[in-house]
Amino acid sequence: MSNSPIDGNYHDRLRQEGEIWGKVAEAMAAQDAPDWQVQRQALHNLIVHARHVDAMLEAVQPGMQALDLGCGAGELTVALARRGAHVLGIDISARALEVARGYYASVQSQLVGTASYEQADLNTLSLPTARYDRIVIKGALHHLVDLPHLVGQMRQALRPDGLLWVQDSHGDESRAGVLMASVLMFVLPTHVSYGDKVRGLLRFGLRAPSRIKLSMEAEGLSPFEGAGRDQDWLALIQQAFDVIDLERGGTVTGYLAHQLRLPRSLALPLLRLIYGLERLLLRLGLLRSSGVVLLARSRPRELVEAQSVTS
Ligand SMILES: C[S@@+](CC[C@H](N)C(=O)[O-])C[C@H]1O[C@@H](n2cnc3c(N)ncnc32)[C@H](O)[C@@H]1O
Repeated sequence: MSNSPIDGNYHDRLRQEGEIWGKVAEAMAAQDAPDWQVQRQALHNLIVHARHVDAMLEAVQPGMQALDLGCGAGELTVALARRGAHVLGIDISARALEVARGYYASVQSQLVGTASYEQADLNTLSLPTARYDRIVIKGALHHLVDLPHLVGQMRQALRPDGLLWVQDSHGDESRAGVLMASVLMFVLPTHVSYGDKVRGLLRFGLRAPSRIKLSMEAEGLSPFEGAGRDQDWLALIQQAFDVIDLERGGTVTGYLAHQLRLPRSLALPLLRLIYGLERLLLRLGLLRSSGVVLLARSRPRELVEAQSVTS
């Protein structure tokens, strides 16, 4: 019996995955340019992600070689090229890559670095040895079925002084976090009307928070949503790299930022307040968040080998 996580209908599901994310990329680009410079202004990015992405980008020097894995419409690929890096964006979605290439062509002359794009499956990808100064992967790990393979490839491809930057969801949202999101969703003006909220509460009662949990955790209708859950990507990364910074949080605020129906001038301070509260509860150990952002360094080969022998 094969132990491969790639089963019989894998290729059909992967095709669906590419189509779904292609539609997401097209819809996003139809609204705003697929460029971190523009996407940074979205409420959830501004409040939850901007600090981390900006810090990652600031440490990129002209001439560096970078890899953006699961690049989608390429918002980070272009941002890295804007910093002067030569970036390869890889994704399974041909449609998303078409969007990314189209946008890159429209801004290419303003960029110091360069971008190129390639369609490939991260579960089976082969990367060159010690080639990249930066590897970034945002929102893609939890869609993968062969995480040990990709983590091994990333380790091989990162230069000894290179950095890996990851942003993704890991594990479950805590009950307290879901409850906090549910209460805030109920009392604040959102895209769901108050009438529908009351009807939902009467209909689902105590199951209402678990419905919120599902929508907090689901990103689109990906056939691979949560596929790698049992492979614990964070443990694999901690084993293969030296994690130098790791922060959890922002899931409750990020979710609300997508749902709130308030003018930006009110939404921004309110979300900042909620984010502050969420971080405080995390620090006090009263919440556990599934949102993770981390920065890691290559680990000397001897250490990785020693650890895999002892574990
Ligand atoms: C949540 S989106 C993130 C996109 C982009 N990194 C961003 O932050 O805007 C996940 C991306 O991973 C890609 N993806 C999912 N499974 C993949 C696989 N097996 N190989 C390559 N890309 C994959 C999807 O096509 C999609 O573009």
